[in-house]
Amino acid sequence: MPGGDVRAGGGLERFREVQLPSVTATRLDGNLCATAIRGELTPRVAVFASAHGRAPSLHILLVGDDPGSQVYVRNKERACIETGLHVTVHRMSASSTREQVLGLVHQLNADAGCDGILVQAPLPAALGKAATQDVFDAIDPGKDVDGFHPTNVGLLVQGRAVLAPCTPTGVIELLERSKIAIGGTRSVVIGRSEIVGKPMALMLLQRDSTVTICHSRTKNLPAVTRDADLLVSAIGRPGFVTADMVKPGATVVDVGISPTSDRQLVVSLFGEGSARLASFDKKGTTVVGDIHPGVWDVAGAMTPVPGGVGPLTIALLLKNTLVAAESRAGR
Ligand code: GUN
Repeated sequence: MPGGDVRAGGGLERFREVQLPSVTATRLDGNLCATAIRGELTPRVAVFASAHGRAPSLHILLVGDDPGSQVYVRNKERACIETGLHVTVHRMSASSTREQVLGLVHQLNADAGCDGILVQAPLPAALGKAATQDVFDAIDPGKDVDGFHPTNVGLLVQGRAVLAPCTPTGVIELLERSKIAIGGTRSVVIGRSEIVGKPMALMLLQRDSTVTICHSRTKNLPAVTRDADLLVSAIGRPGFVTADMVKPGATVVDVGISPTSDRQLVVSLFGEGSARLASFDKKGTTVVGDIHPGVWDVAGAMTPVPGGVGPLTIALLLKNTLVAAESRAGR
């Protein structure tokens, strides 16, 4: 019995307090899947480079000093270099104007040596509410490696996307490569963002799942989520999805990646004496998901945080950059 004999009177009762719940869900390993995808890209990048005399090239615009964005952009930059892609990060000050950001996007649109453009969100609030959409709209759809341009969103709606958003595409890759059936299932997506929730729902629908999108105004959310064979949460609220909200045996995908330095939160999610708390106490920080760890005891398969969806987002960004380069070269 894992964790020791907890039978009363066995002299080992003290183990009851530290016994961990038995883990039943299969772990959907995003690192393994991302490594496989990246391994498939490397020879294609080499073929492109030898055919065109240059590597596919990604330009990333990082405006301002949002700490999360700095980390994400550094990780994207490193992954490009490891895969043989050419990457340029344009760091712009937080006081940049909307016109300056749009000016750089127009310049990159016209640059024949640029295959992909990514403007890291969020943009500084001072640029105004509409700035992020305006900037995404200004990117040449053929270079839109995020898949956020209205043309690419429209193609996704019609089921003929070439460049689709990286995170939901990564989730689909993970499910398909893990041989998790999508067709004929009931799926529930929590969150309706343009980056994850909406495109995720469209991709599941395209694969013949019956899809429900939930959000902050959804009534009796647990009753809806309990109906899901496939549950995807993308709201960024640590531990929001608890075991009572999950159908036994369901596949659960955690897209809500929240860095935290709140020890109380880590204790409440993982418990005193947990390995995660020990690691937190060493580093002073950890990353937590939307799915409460108690769900491991109910789900049939589940993504961990970290090591689930995160690595796939980057792998799909690399793939979109290569696809953008190949498509432009083939025009
Ligand atoms: N900020 C958080 N996620 C993303 C993403 O997928 N793309 C961009 N451009 N910004 C983000």
